[in-house]
Amino acid sequence: MSGTDRPPVALVTGGGGDIGRAIALRLARMSAAVAIVDRDEAAARATAQLVEQGGARALAIRADVSLAQDTIAFVDAVETRLGPIGIFANNAGIEGIVAPLHEYPDDTFDRVLQVNVKGVFLGLKHVLARMMQRGTGAIINTASTSAIRGRAGLAGYVASKHAVLGLTRTAALDVARTRIRVNAVLPGPIESRMIRDLEGQAREGGIALRRSNATAHGRPQDVANVVAFLASDEAAHVNGAAWVVDGGTTLA
Ligand SMILES: NC(=O)c1ccc[n+]([C@@H]2O[C@H](COP(=O)([O-])OP(=O)(O)OC[C@H]3O[C@@H](n4cnc5c(N)ncnc54)[C@H](O)[C@@H]3O)[C@@H](O)[C@H]2O)c1
Repeated sequence: MSGTDRPPVALVTGGGGDIGRAIALRLARMSAAVAIVDRDEAAARATAQLVEQGGARALAIRADVSLAQDTIAFVDAVETRLGPIGIFANNAGIEGIVAPLHEYPDDTFDRVLQVNVKGVFLGLKHVLARMMQRGTGAIINTASTSAIRGRAGLAGYVASKHAVLGLTRTAALDVARTRIRVNAVLPGPIESRMIRDLEGQAREGGIALRRSNATAHGRPQDVANVVAFLASDEAAHVNGAAWVVDGGTTLA
């Protein structure tokens, strides 16, 4: 990627969701083509349509990011049909349930880690394998402020997001001698389906999720703008960073 060329292809997992859709639309402004992967095919297609309306090429793919065979297949499909992946927003994730740790169900814990940790690992592994052949590319993993603090009732989610930051830092060091960069974006609560679900569960269970008095949530575009910066050559010297997007609420 040079300072003037538009990177040819961006890939966004969880691109049918609120934040992933905003990322796909934002990256469409700096890429010729955007691939949208989601286990919800209709949602992926809806994002693809919006990307096309914005003037970029789009490809919607149904896949489960927690499965190696799906990940290998979508990375291959994107490179074959659209070209080399220059930007990868490794964004798909699930929230699990809100419950105190001594009541937190084992199967929910396993599933949250399977999607949020194994899924992010598989995406890194198979996209990096392609990027390493070219020596260039930008990867942005969607972690959360739950990567750097505890949150009552969210054992699986908080553990998984801490792991996403660990994977980000490890991958960043693995690629440090190339022009590939791997960073993480750490959103605080964002106006979205996921946060409405978590806050609803917390209210029902009488669990306080937030420790600060801040009331305003961010918007999906606020996260997408930071992802676009981290994907751009403007962030050429940013590698392994944990970029918080929370309006300062994590400080409280
Ligand atoms: N919403 C927030 O407040 C918030 C805050 C911090 C971090 N995040 C993170 O941002 C990312 C996006 O969250 P969102 O708010 O857009 O949630 P969302 O639920 O709207 O979107 C997530 C998308 O990922 C897809 N997905 C889930 N599991 C998948 C799988 N196994 N394979 C493929 N696709 C799968 C879903 O179908 C959905 O379209 C997640 O990683 C989430 O943890 C969200």
